[in-house]
Amino acid sequence: MGDAIQFVLDGRLRTIRGLDPNTTVLEWLRGPERRSGTKEGCAEGDCGACTVAVAETDGAGTTHWRAVNACIQPIATLHGRWLATVESLCGSDDALHPVQQAMVETHASQCGYCTPGFVMSLFALRHDPAPATAEATLRALAGNLCRCTGYRPILAAAGRMRETAPGPDRFDAEVPAVAALLAASCGDAELGYDADGRRWHAPRTLAALDRVLAARPTATLVAGATDLGLEITKRHRRFDDLVFLGGVDELRGVRRGAGALDLGAAVTWADAHAPLAAAWPTLDEFVARFAGLQIRNVATLGGNIANASPIGDGSPLFLALDATLLLRRDGVQRALPLREFFLGYRRTALQPGEIVERIVVPLPTPSTRFAAWKVAKRYDSDISAVCGCFRVELDARGRIAEAAIAFGGMAAVPLRVPDAEAAVVGRDLDDATAEAGARAIASVLAPIDDLRASAGYRRDVAGALWRRAVAAFATGKAARHG
Ligand SMILES: Cc1cc2nc3c(=O)[nH]c(=O)nc-3n(C[C@H](O)[C@H](O)[C@H](O)COP(=O)(O)OP(=O)(O)OC[C@H]3O[C@@H](n4cnc5c(N)ncnc54)[C@H](O)[C@@H]3O)c2cc1C
Ligand code: FES
Ligand code: FES
Repeated sequence: MGDAIQFVLDGRLRTIRGLDPNTTVLEWLRGPERRSGTKEGCAEGDCGACTVAVAETDGAGTTHWRAVNACIQPIATLHGRWLATVESLCGSDDALHPVQQAMVETHASQCGYCTPGFVMSLFALRHDPAPATAEATLRALAGNLCRCTGYRPILAAAGRMRETAPGPDRFDAEVPAVAALLAASCGDAELGYDADGRRWHAPRTLAALDRVLAARPTATLVAGATDLGLEITKRHRRFDDLVFLGGVDELRGVRRGAGALDLGAAVTWADAHAPLAAAWPTLDEFVARFAGLQIRNVATLGGNIANASPIGDGSPLFLALDATLLLRRDGVQRALPLREFFLGYRRTALQPGEIVERIVVPLPTPSTRFAAWKVAKRYDSDISAVCGCFRVELDARGRIAEAAIAFGGMAAVPLRVPDAEAAVVGRDLDDATAEAGARAIASVLAPIDDLRASAGYRRDVAGALWRRAVAAFATGKAARHG
């Protein structure tokens, strides 16, 4: 078992000991490392000024660079990985990387505060094997804010970098050496790190995770740290005993089997995007609107459900899809329908030492209709005021045989609305059904007023989303699956 955090930066293995595991990557970079190119704007994952790129690499030479927010990533999440910051791009000869050159040529920087973050998001985009579409560029940059240049020159830089320097770069050439360095140092060994009396444990298998949690059932679980990181940076909390789920391979797999999509709890939203959209095409846009890409690259499905946020997007989504959770403690699994998981505000059915292991979602059939929308103040990278997710199963005559109506932002917990579901079952997909559902939604839900929306607005929007779903289902627009 390794007892030091080890990762590669600029071709060199870094070994960290004696640093509080609550330290963020950004604190380490700008503090002991005196590497101040990476900026701090918000310290809560919203602005992208702190964006760095992190790659996981295997012996076969496959590397996937991902943009992440250094401000809320604990330093130990880098263990076994390859880190690149804006300084890494220049290399030893100080020549600009094609991404930086493109930013210069398109005049894409004024005050420059956001620039290192944009550069690193574009760097990750440049290494993304997916097709380089305009949509992919917008999605890659939605988590970066610029207050003075304006986005047009930055988007032009994205185009320029592809035109002027396509093909592999210095980082591609370094993959075998970095993979060998990581394999020879940390390999796939478990990490048991201890500093300042605080612990970070990163098991690599479910069996090892069972062992760790049996010994320390009150340890704090951490996956993508996009919720937990904010506890550290905004509430100044320090966690004494952290167990990291992101290194457990069995929790990171997606299986599409007969009739169900089976997602590991540590699958990130970025990795879940394609399988979810393949099964339910309307989810392509829905998932793209979950935070910015830097967050989706690390935030997990399990963390999103387990945090039981009343305004999260994953819980209403999986409630409408009738998901079942596989929970795990001491190596024993139990299945629990997601609708029985939320017990009250931020309270769940998880027992001490128990984790969400998998999320199992029935796949749609030809009679399934499904739609999901989030309504927020901003289109990109914002938290929902209301999230509405709707599924109906139609009978042979086109009437609603079964309905699932789920919301976030409408109560202290994400929830389904059985009264509204009962009010629409057995009915045609018509205006009367749309109104019956909207009336039931308005009569049973009592949302709160807060900075995101008033209670009245939320009630009106919830009804309107259901009406929109009925109209979409009736016309077959973007809602037919199977
Ligand atoms: C800038 C920003 C934007 C965001 N935008 C959105 C958004 O659009 N929609 C949305 O829904 N959320 C959003 N979030 C919230 C957050 O990203 C999600 O809730 C995310 O999915 C949490 O996953 P994580 O892996 O990062 O969880 P972590 O922070 O690692 O953990 C969250 C909690 O869950 C527990 N936990 C984690 N995994 C498990 C498990 N497998 N079993 C049991 N307990 C577990 C942890 O102990 C912790 O209490 C945003 C957050 C930020 C910072
Ligand atoms: S500093 Fe704003 S996202 Fe990290
Ligand atoms: S260049 Fe000033 S914030 Fe973007």
